[in-house]
Amino acid sequence: MFLRSISLINFKNYPETELQFSPKINCLTGNNGEGKTNILDAIHYLSFCKSFFNPIDSQNISHQAPFFVIQGNFENNEQQDDVYCGLKRNQKKIFKRNKKEYQRLADHIGLFPLVMISPADSELITEGSESRRKFLDSIIAQFDKNYLDNLIQYNKVLSQRNALLKHFGDSGKFDSTSLEIWDVQLIEYGIKIFQTRQQFIQDFIPFFQKHYELISGGKEFVGIEYVSHLNKQPFDEALSNVLNRDKAMEYTTVGIHKDDLEFTINQYPIKKYASQGQQKSFLIALKLAQFDFIKKIKKVSPILLLDDIYDKLDDLRVKQLMELVSSNNFGQLFITDTHPTRLSELFQLSNTDFKTFKINNGCAVEIETKIINQ
Ligand SMILES: Nc1ncnc2c1ncn2[C@@H]1O[C@H](COP(=O)(O)OP(=O)(O)OP(=O)(O)O)[C@@H](O)[C@H]1O
Ligand SMILES: [Mg+2]
Repeated sequence: MFLRSISLINFKNYPETELQFSPKINCLTGNNGEGKTNILDAIHYLSFCKSFFNPIDSQNISHQAPFFVIQGNFENNEQQDDVYCGLKRNQKKIFKRNKKEYQRLADHIGLFPLVMISPADSELITEGSESRRKFLDSIIAQFDKNYLDNLIQYNKVLSQRNALLKHFGDSGKFDSTSLEIWDVQLIEYGIKIFQTRQQFIQDFIPFFQKHYELISGGKEFVGIEYVSHLNKQPFDEALSNVLNRDKAMEYTTVGIHKDDLEFTINQYPIKKYASQGQQKSFLIALKLAQFDFIKKIKKVSPILLLDDIYDKLDDLRVKQLMELVSSNNFGQLFITDTHPTRLSELFQLSNTDFKTFKINNGCAVEIETKIINQ
């Protein structure tokens, strides 16, 4: 599966652009602020029906323009799919595949899988546990249909339980029977989620460590540990042990909603002890392991977007990474760089198709094409 072409009208700083892509490697070069990442974001729209960066769709319409249109043509085993995304100011976003409008955008997501590697991934290290749970949930939800349902149910029960604890606090009356009704359900869904997460992390770690080793040349050893209250004791015991605390705090202080992933390098926490380049390598290995998982499940290579890949990585690591992603295990790639030629110099040496585009103030021009097999 790959994106053959894209056309943009009034999308961010692109008034009107049409591009034909290589099925393998596409390098987008240009100075800061010219529009390289914007092309990646338009591709992200075609896959996920939304921007990777800005959740407010209307802010992606060119300043002063009344609408934007993004159109892409995908090819998959000879089949062609036209994907259309259009937004007029103050109107609902329209999304179509082969001229047929979607009633639910959720029906589109997953048809053209994509993984984005961006400097914004650093929040997985720097931010709180919620961002790591989101990362975990977004991968598991792609292959386990029950998982998302269990998670939704868990969160519903959790908010009911918290409301009841609040009510106990406000009224000064405690009633263990009504709390138990929620506890039973919280425990049931919580255990299922815990077991799925535990199994997933176990399966995910070897993929992740393999990628880190390839990028770093085996210089450091990295780890991921799944941290959960349920690792230490059964959920029912944990809940009854903290009952007095929950009553005092008026919310549920233990459970899988507090789960976290602990990232380590040579057994030390990555946030405190890893260099910037090591952190970046860690994040890339996480995303590439995500790529492997999606590929295993969907049986198709996701499109891979690599934004600002030289940012914080040394030349050797970029070279290892480029060798890895240009191999046959990967499908179509889009890579941005501010340097005009260094990516193309790397790919000239490899036996792969690639194209280079020069991006200049919202105008993209194909400047180099190498085709190995016609
Ligand atoms: N809604 C919009 N309308 C017009 N221009 C916009 C809009 N949103 C963003 N831009 C412009 O897009 C440009 C940024 O593009 P982009 O982020 O793709 O740059 P880049 O080439 O990736 O740069 P860098 O190398 O710094 O990452 C900025 O000039 C910004 O003003
Ligand atoms: Mg950019």
